Amino acid sequence: MASSICFLLFSLLFLSPSTRGGDLRHHEEGFISLVISDKGLDFAKEFLIQQAVASIVASKLPEIEKTVQVPLVGKAKVVLSDITINDIQVNSSAVKTGDTGIVVAVSGATADLSLKWRYSVSSWLVPIGISDSGTATVKVNDLQVGLTVNIRNQKGTLKLILLDYGCQVGDLSIKLHGGAAWLYQVLVDAFAGNIATAVEEAISKKIKEGISTLDYLLQSLPKTIALDETASLNISFVDNPVLSDSAIELDINGLFTGRNEVLVPRGYRRGSNISVSYGDHSPKMITISLHENVFKSGSLVYFNADSMKWIVDELPDQDLLNTAEWRFLIPQLYKQYPNDDMNLNISISSPPDIQVTNKDVGVNIFIDIIIDVLEAGEVIPVACISVDFSASCAVEIVGNNLAGRLKLRKFSTNLKWSKIGKLHLNLIQSVTSTILKTVLMPYLNSQLMKGIPLPILSDFFLENAQILYAPPWISVCSDVSFLGDYYLKH
Ligand SMILES: *[C@@H]1O[C@H](CO)[C@@H](O)[C@H](O)[C@H]1NC(C)=O
Ligand SMILES: *[C@@H]1O[C@H](CO)[C@@H](O)[C@H](O)[C@H]1NC(C)=O
Ligand SMILES: *[C@@H]1O[C@H](CO)[C@@H](O)[C@H](O)[C@H]1NC(C)=O
Ligand SMILES: *[C@@H]1O[C@H](CO)[C@@H](O)[C@H](O)[C@H]1NC(C)=O
Repeated sequence: MASSICFLLFSLLFLSPSTRGGDLRHHEEGFISLVISDKGLDFAKEFLIQQAVASIVASKLPEIEKTVQVPLVGKAKVVLSDITINDIQVNSSAVKTGDTGIVVAVSGATADLSLKWRYSVSSWLVPIGISDSGTATVKVNDLQVGLTVNIRNQKGTLKLILLDYGCQVGDLSIKLHGGAAWLYQVLVDAFAGNIATAVEEAISKKIKEGISTLDYLLQSLPKTIALDETASLNISFVDNPVLSDSAIELDINGLFTGRNEVLVPRGYRRGSNISVSYGDHSPKMITISLHENVFKSGSLVYFNADSMKWIVDELPDQDLLNTAEWRFLIPQLYKQYPNDDMNLNISISSPPDIQVTNKDVGVNIFIDIIIDVLEAGEVIPVACISVDFSASCAVEIVGNNLAGRLKLRKFSTNLKWSKIGKLHLNLIQSVTSTILKTVLMPYLNSQLMKGIPLPILSDFFLENAQILYAPPWISVCSDVSFLGDYYLKH
């Protein structure tokens, strides 16, 4: 009898007609995928049970009032009030996923209740009536709780559907403080069933409320995250979550889009500290995989927004930005523009090419460096060097973000045009090298260290994250910890 609820719920997983037919319409591609493993589901289950228990403890159940005929005593009107669930202990629980949903079941839990009792008796023997009051504690044993939910995609957000739920009290024992022996018997005979039902109803109600709160939280997740003034990340869910018997997979669009006017607050919160473990191959709770198209879309968005260009008028060696410094190396420059300041107009000439390899992210960037002379308030372009450079980007986890660090691999240069005569190849290369190392790489790295927010709910943080390169994907395998407080409150 005790395990009937759990059995029913589990069998629901496999008996219900499949609702996955809808998936066949079309398969939209997600470029970020989130897989929650067995271990992750277990963590989620423990977390939710903890939250549920916290929401149930201190609940007050409705008063119970009954009039019973007590042999030798008379007609007793008994009222139980302030029936409070003080504690719930969950000893064993399970989570299981199947074709049609996710089952969470708690079996053999116990609950401690306290209550106040009062009675009044009237009989032909004692016409004035007697009354008394006191307290009692109730121990509920073998509490079974179970629920089945499904998660569906609803216009890009997740909808949680409560398919079935139930709660069953196995048995309960009552301990009376004070009162007469007949009262104890009355509580056991006439009230125990009502108390059990009240507990079952209270817990069932909390399950319903809890699921609807979770549903609300999921539905209020943003569909896009504004990254900066140029780009947002589309974190709409695509397709329905795929529930298999050991994992849940959620697919997210994951592409960068240009920012439109609408400002969406960042729903995913900043992370804490870098936490990456190397050489740790224990199973992790979640795996977040990003397709290289995520990075390519970012490259395209920033390029199209014309945001990949810089005027450099400061260098660590500032003398380089004055024609005087070049009077021997480029005599024509000094002759035409003696002692004038210069700047560099750097622009990326095509969207950077990005490719995930099995050890890093390879980046290929084409830039044009236009050398300008500033004379009498006028900007005069005098030469243009085109540079093709490749860099290796090592991916890191910073807080809950995927960040990167570029290292210059190699570059080649080409003088596109010049109004100051032919420039020596060596000269071009040394200027380029200086610009790449002192200006461009530090700038790009400062941008990359901001990172892409990974789809983690606020108050949860990645722990012992590990990065795997699996071209064209990068996977972050990680545990998760919760650093917030009580979560299910509104
Ligand atoms: C909890 O479960 C363990 C093993 O399943 C069992 O030995 C123990 O008696 C249980 N405790 C309670 C309070 O039910
Ligand atoms: C975001 O992704 C969803 C799902 O792929 C798509 O339907 C929607 O059009 C995308 N939004 C933008 C602004 O690209
Ligand atoms: C982050 O790191 C800094 C310095 O290492 C440390 O002081 C701080 O407590 C850390 N914060 C967290 C949340 O771990
Ligand atoms: C930089 O060079 C581009 C041509 O590549 C030009 O269109 C732009 O006006 C220049 N910017 C400045 C500030 O000189």
